[in-house]
Amino acid sequence: MNEASMLMPQYALYTGEPVKDAPILSVSGLCIEYPNERTKIRNIGFSIARGETFGLIGESGSGKTSVCKAILGLLKDRALQSGSIRLCGKELLRLSPKEQQKINGKDIGYVMQNPHAAFDPCMKIKRHFMETIKAHRHCSTREAFRLGYELLCAVGLSDAERVMESYPGQLSGGMLQRVMVAIAVSLRPVLLIADEPTGALDAGNCGIVLQLLAKAVRETQAALLFVSHDMNAVANIAECIAVMKEGEIVETGTAETVLKNPRHPYTAELLSSSKVYVHVHF
Ligand SMILES: Nc1ncnc2c1ncn2[C@@H]1O[C@H](COP(=O)(O)OP(=O)(O)O)[C@@H](O)[C@H]1O
Ligand SMILES: [Mg+2]
Repeated sequence: MNEASMLMPQYALYTGEPVKDAPILSVSGLCIEYPNERTKIRNIGFSIARGETFGLIGESGSGKTSVCKAILGLLKDRALQSGSIRLCGKELLRLSPKEQQKINGKDIGYVMQNPHAAFDPCMKIKRHFMETIKAHRHCSTREAFRLGYELLCAVGLSDAERVMESYPGQLSGGMLQRVMVAIAVSLRPVLLIADEPTGALDAGNCGIVLQLLAKAVRETQAALLFVSHDMNAVANIAECIAVMKEGEIVETGTAETVLKNPRHPYTAELLSSSKVYVHVHF
């Protein structure tokens, strides 16, 4: 891959000099309530520094995707949310949908949990790349195509030309997941949110995707929110971890502390049910 073409630091939200060591993402007191739903997401707080990967782990239904959607302003109107979500110091919960739309994609790259829902079935992959890249970056169609092509190769899709010419329905969930990772990093966002990005992948491709995400974070000094129920994936990429259960963070700390000395019984349970082969930090 041509490294120079990709992933240079870009802090579009900054108006002045970047504040040294200020977190890129800072979430505090975040609460989400869905009408007629028992599970409430309560008092979520964490921050991610530049160049850092933060792992959010917990069983299905614990509220991980809801936290991601709140950051992206994608919760439906009827979901009540309160608290604070700051991106490079800017409060996101007060943004209008239009303002948030400008930030999504460009400043926040999102790898959605369900790869099939992320793509317009009538558009070739090529067009998904072109539209995303050209909407946010000044570059020619040829440059956008080349960047897309390089990134598809980087996520292990060696038949990149065929993938570009395919409709989403012609690709497997695992392939779409990797295309989504490629599109998300193509814009060099300050924050990458990857919601179960390896869910549909076998071990080999899971490793490739983790490597690309880690590389993107390292090279752009972006922040990565890595969401998973797979303790192994989180253990191998995150520096800090928060464990969610029934809408709350029950334990948080450095990956090493949480994995070696889990304090909450639920964390211990998660660890004992998944053999964790740590620590090949990418
Ligand atoms: N669109 C929605 N409408 C109503 N309730 C929802 C919606 N999305 C999530 N929830 C509620 O929030 C809980 C947490 O869901 P989610 O954030 O998807 O968890 P996770 O990603 O950890 O599996 C669910 O169990 C459900 O009760
Ligand atoms: Mg989820």
